[in-house]
Amino acid sequence: MRVLGIESSCDETGLAIYDTQAGLLSHALYSQVALHAEYGGVVPELASRDHIRRVVPLTEQVLQDADCTLQSIDAIAYTQGPGLSGALLVGTSYATALAAGLGIPALPVHHLEGHLLAPLLEPSPPAFPFVALLVSGGHTQLMRVDGIGEYALLGDTLDDAAGEAFDKTAKLLGLGYPGGPQVASLAKEATVQQVDKTYHLPKPMLHSGDLNFSFSGLKTAVLTLANKFQPLTDEHKANIAWAFQAAVTEVLTVKSTRALKQTGLKHLIVSGGVGANLALRQQLNIAAKKHRFSIRYPRLEFCTDNGAMIAFAGAQRLAAMQSLPSNDYAFSVKPRWDMATLRKPL
Ligand code: KG4
Ligand code: ZN
Repeated sequence: MRVLGIESSCDETGLAIYDTQAGLLSHALYSQVALHAEYGGVVPELASRDHIRRVVPLTEQVLQDADCTLQSIDAIAYTQGPGLSGALLVGTSYATALAAGLGIPALPVHHLEGHLLAPLLEPSPPAFPFVALLVSGGHTQLMRVDGIGEYALLGDTLDDAAGEAFDKTAKLLGLGYPGGPQVASLAKEATVQQVDKTYHLPKPMLHSGDLNFSFSGLKTAVLTLANKFQPLTDEHKANIAWAFQAAVTEVLTVKSTRALKQTGLKHLIVSGGVGANLALRQQLNIAAKKHRFSIRYPRLEFCTDNGAMIAFAGAQRLAAMQSLPSNDYAFSVKPRWDMATLRKPL
């Protein structure tokens, strides 16, 4: 089975072709980061218009790179939600029209299921069941994964997501959007390498005993800390970025380790944009060694939004179905879509 995947939920147009026998054949991405940079965040209307501009040339590119034709595609997977409605509509309507023209199934994919499964695109993926840490711009969740569509939520954020906290901290420090990579690179310039009194920040809910998170207080603490320094120098900013990153990564590492202990499982997969953070990977790798669990990440480019994860999730769903889904090619988008409603494919 060969699946064309289309991602357009936010500010990245991602296309890819995944073959259940041969693996990932090609993928291509157009990031709108430069387009939105001057506004300090994503402008939905500009995002939709740009997806329209990119989606056809990117399709041609992935077909060419995979050395195959549209006629050799068995199904088209697309992000149906959650995300920006206008942006989702571009990928959804395009995917459905193309599938109707070719007479093949159009497969709606949940964006977070795409992220969640992305580590399985890499060599020697763990077998089910495992624990997944999903850390993106909008979500911070720990899940028990027993199979495709079999996800039990173990812990969630009570307020801001980890990625959101990175983005807000970046804004407070006068850095650009998206903030995660910029906070991470500023933290490398830090002159403190250990938490000390001067740069003390809270580690929210570290000892709460459960698997939930809360990051909104941390952002306020960053603001209070920054206001302490008059003037706020580049060195102060780098040290604050380091302390912030250290606090977030410690909480994520401790809770992931706790989730493995509580479930008795031995494998962790990490996905979503914050999964690209190297300080987080370093801490998790140390914990994995100490507590004897295995850990898998997506390659760096598949931590953030991409078409490969959508093609892969679509292909996994298709492979798990008893028969090919029938399609009337009616379509809708789901800007809000609770992952808890996902089910095992029938
Ligand atoms: O998964 P993603 O591309 O989009 C969502 O579905 O939300 O994640 C984007 C988020 C942003 O908040 C961005 O700042 C964060 O991931 N991010 C990072 C890094 N790269 C991206 N956060 C920390 N360190 C990074 N290296
Ligand atoms: Zn995403």
